[in-house]
Amino acid sequence: MKNTLEPARTVTAVAGPSLALTKYWGKHCEGINRPATPSLGVTLSTFQSTACVTLTDGQPRITVNKVPQPLDRFQPFLDEATRVLGPRRFDAVCTNNFPTAAGLASSSSGFAALATAATALSGRFLTQAEISALARVGSGSAARAVYHGFTEFPAGAEYAEPLYGPDHWPDLRIVACLVDHGPKAVSSRQGMARVQATSPYFKRWVEDAEGLHREALAALAARDLAKLGDIMRLSYLRMFSTQFSASPPLVYWQPTSVQIIQHVDGLRRRGLGVWETMDAGPQVKLICLDTDTDAVIASLQDQIPSLQTVVTTVGNGPCVSTSPRD
Ligand code: DP6
Repeated sequence: MKNTLEPARTVTAVAGPSLALTKYWGKHCEGINRPATPSLGVTLSTFQSTACVTLTDGQPRITVNKVPQPLDRFQPFLDEATRVLGPRRFDAVCTNNFPTAAGLASSSSGFAALATAATALSGRFLTQAEISALARVGSGSAARAVYHGFTEFPAGAEYAEPLYGPDHWPDLRIVACLVDHGPKAVSSRQGMARVQATSPYFKRWVEDAEGLHREALAALAARDLAKLGDIMRLSYLRMFSTQFSASPPLVYWQPTSVQIIQHVDGLRRRGLGVWETMDAGPQVKLICLDTDTDAVIASLQDQIPSLQTVVTTVGNGPCVSTSPRD
């Protein structure tokens, strides 16, 4: 059911990034950012993207961390927003409290915040699935970040779906290891396109992804961390095998990334329940339980003293605040 609400003047939405436990990597042949592979996401706490949107009569202006953005990157999203929300234009001031475009899924939280804020500003009612579909046009992974907790984005879908809230696994911790704060040279989107066009393994990756994803869903339902951790590793390492085999090859890893992967392997052999994943960037993200988090971080910092770590939990999803009208 659609209804029309009184439009607000300025709306601010805050969203956390969606970390993929199984990866969206590659585009479905039709539509904008419809995924070739299914993904399982967890929305994170602590890391935040904020989008503050205001109605304008002129050309829309979008800044991210105070830097004006080229509108061509945002045009498909703005066109879709006009289609589903009506013809009002808006300016957006977006900020991230964590490194941007560095492999920490800032585009997922950025477009989730933007879609949520633009929807509230428009005064139109959209379902969560419709907001997810709008966010997807900005960035595929943003389709997951409009929800709290755990989410699924099926292959070929136009929107992601919520699976469980944060209370499904309150003692799960996601530890982000910040290897490099700088932006990556090749965006996820460019990387996917290169892989899809040139890796001989891309087709096989897509065929394999469905089975892995189903196993991950079962492990998540059972809160089986060891099983989920093993599948999560297979998913990111198989994704990376398509990157290494692209032409020219894509290597997002840095020496510290490999050092962390090997160290975490050693911790598992010593009985600690910790598993890693990576995205299109050098950062490494770990999953473990609250009870093991301090030991994992202490051991990593002993090995790599300069390493910055951020501990997050399963997040509550976007929140919106509206400024009063003058
Ligand atoms: C490796 O969502 O950033 O983080 O849809 O082209 O904007 P576009 O790509 P994006 O890709 C995310 C890729 C990933 C895996 C994931 O988040 O599922």
